[in-house]
Amino acid sequence: MNTPNHVAIIMDGNGRWAEQKGMPREFGHQHGVRSVKKIVEEANKFKVKYLTLFAFSVENWGRPSYEVETLMRLLVETLKDEFEDLINNNIKLNSIGDVKSLPNEVRYELGKIINNTKDNTGMTLTLALSYGGKQEIFKAVKEISEKVKNEIINLDNFDDSIINDHLYTKNLPDVDLLIRTSGEQRISNFLLWQIAYAELYFTETYWPDFSEEDFTDAIIEYQKRERRFGKTSKQL
Ligand code: FPP
Repeated sequence: MNTPNHVAIIMDGNGRWAEQKGMPREFGHQHGVRSVKKIVEEANKFKVKYLTLFAFSVENWGRPSYEVETLMRLLVETLKDEFEDLINNNIKLNSIGDVKSLPNEVRYELGKIINNTKDNTGMTLTLALSYGGKQEIFKAVKEISEKVKNEIINLDNFDDSIINDHLYTKNLPDVDLLIRTSGEQRISNFLLWQIAYAELYFTETYWPDFSEEDFTDAIIEYQKRERRFGKTSKQL
């Protein structure tokens, strides 16, 4: 069967999941980490080649400092705890976003594991951290403009690949399937350029409840879709 090559997920609903249980939002994020572990394993079993998770947006810095600190702490703990499993499963870790703005400890753990898994040949797991799609495009435009000004890039040879090469995702293919949990139906500044032809899948399930079966359902739904990329059915 046709498995999506690149799956991206907006892991939404941790806070509401916790609030429904009368618990603090941080409780939802802790349970969200469990779903991350399950879904990474499941995607790997499905032989998805690229899995990209929206773990922290540029806009998330505006949340109460206690919640931001909890998320950063969970990231460090998860990176430390999961390191062995990533290695054992031949998974390569990658990150996109403004990594410089992350606390030192997160950058350290992230950098260490990215380096130690760089020769792995299985699934590439990308964490979007301090990531914003508009900010990514803005950064690319600025870098390209500088290069045009300095005659490193010639406008006569300008094409898509030049833009791709200046995005955080320069080593990743476009997204095939974008999943968003929690019932919200929006993109929230995630991978704006890279989802141009992605199939979108929305589920009401909150991220901490998102199970292996839910992931399988999303893949099955993807397999039913006809991807025409602007062509007609007959032409495919
Ligand atoms: C959205 O739920 C989720 C986030 C902002 C953070 C996602 C983080 C994790 C799942 C845990 C850490 C990740 C890794 C990779 C270890 P929300 O808080 O916006 O929920 P709400 O919309 O119900 O308030």
